[in-house]
Amino acid sequence: MKYDFTFYNPTKIYFGKTAFKNLKTELKNYGPNILFMYGKGSIKRSGLYDKIMNVLNSCHKNVTILEGVMPNPTYAKVLEGAKLVRENHIDLILAVGGGSVIDCAKGISAASYAKEDPWERYYIRGEKINTKLVPIGSILTMVGTGSEMNGGSVITNEEKKLKKGHVYESANYPKFSILNPELTFTVPVYQMKSGIFDIFSHLMEQYFSGDDDNVSDYLIEGLMRSLIHSSKEAIKNPKNYEARSNIMWCATMALNTLVKESKTEDWQVHSIEHQLGAYTDCAHGMGLAAISIPYYKLIYKYGLKKFARFATNVWGISPADKSDNELALLGIEALKNYIKECGMVTSIKELGATEEMLPLIANSVDLGGGYHNLTREEVLEILKECF
Ligand code: NZQ
Ligand code: ZN
Repeated sequence: MKYDFTFYNPTKIYFGKTAFKNLKTELKNYGPNILFMYGKGSIKRSGLYDKIMNVLNSCHKNVTILEGVMPNPTYAKVLEGAKLVRENHIDLILAVGGGSVIDCAKGISAASYAKEDPWERYYIRGEKINTKLVPIGSILTMVGTGSEMNGGSVITNEEKKLKKGHVYESANYPKFSILNPELTFTVPVYQMKSGIFDIFSHLMEQYFSGDDDNVSDYLIEGLMRSLIHSSKEAIKNPKNYEARSNIMWCATMALNTLVKESKTEDWQVHSIEHQLGAYTDCAHGMGLAAISIPYYKLIYKYGLKKFARFATNVWGISPADKSDNELALLGIEALKNYIKECGMVTSIKELGATEEMLPLIANSVDLGGGYHNLTREEVLEILKECF
């Protein structure tokens, strides 16, 4: 393990079919005022809203509602929630939904008692928390982002046409998260696939960087293989509990900081997708699926050995009689076939991008990379390639 690190993750996870019963126990740890926040209505249709209200009422909580958190949550929504927190002296934010609701909750927690503009401090300058936070508990209904056990918060500033992620310190992770795979059965298949590719991308963003002998890379390969297997089962039968529960836990482990320890990371596919999202409001994982193939085709030669290892250890391609270059390309081809077989999106035009948007997106992407630092011209090339 080349680089020293501190590993600490304070989120308590309740996992499985009976996980929901722990909500009542957890609520006893917090004061009476709850901000119950959720998305655009799926929890009302599924009946989860009523179940949660029953628990909140039985615990004699004063409930303030923040509804309508949108996919790709906006900074305006963060400020709306922060105002509710201050006005109602909120003791706990209960975030129920997918990554968007939980990311928004973290933004609200940090913005409620902020001494300066939280957008500038956290999402632009990436600074540490300097404010009182409001604890968060989450009930996850859509799998992919890992937001249930990390500090990630990705917020869209509509006025500035920027979608920016900030990783908060552990003080702003959810205190507890309830993960019942059955709650994800109602997720539309398109969203389920988007979440699956999001997980895959998180694993690749951490894998394709650094070439030390590191236990993290072996963990990532195992998670990728499990995800490939379970995702095919889940697409065949979305109500397959075994597959959905494996995917759910895989998503959490893929981005709860465990598999990045002592590694450098990439995150360039995410960086491009975030600006694609700022312009098109597309489903995050589908944007990643479209961008990934042209991106990896462009950078694989800078990390040739790792891409060859990916082909063998993840996709089971025999290295016999093949050069590293041949193997690496076969690995990317296997990834491309997987994306097609799963029915994920391969063109950003399909996600709402127009030709006029491409230079605007390329010019606003945060540049970086793992094996190779992209130039703006290369970002534009990638966008044209998957247009
Ligand atoms: O709003 P509702 O009606 O609830 O519908 C949602 C939404 O339309 C629906 N949904 C969720 N659970 C459902 C359900 N529909 C039926 N049944 C259920 N059980 O699914 C749609 C998408 O939800 P959303 O929360 O937007 O999806 P996801 O979890 O993929 O979150 C995406 C956001 O997370 C950010 C993305 O950029 C994007 O803004 N990310 C957060 C990260 C983090 N915190 O670490 C990392 C990721 O890389 C990512 O950037
Ligand atoms: Zn992601």
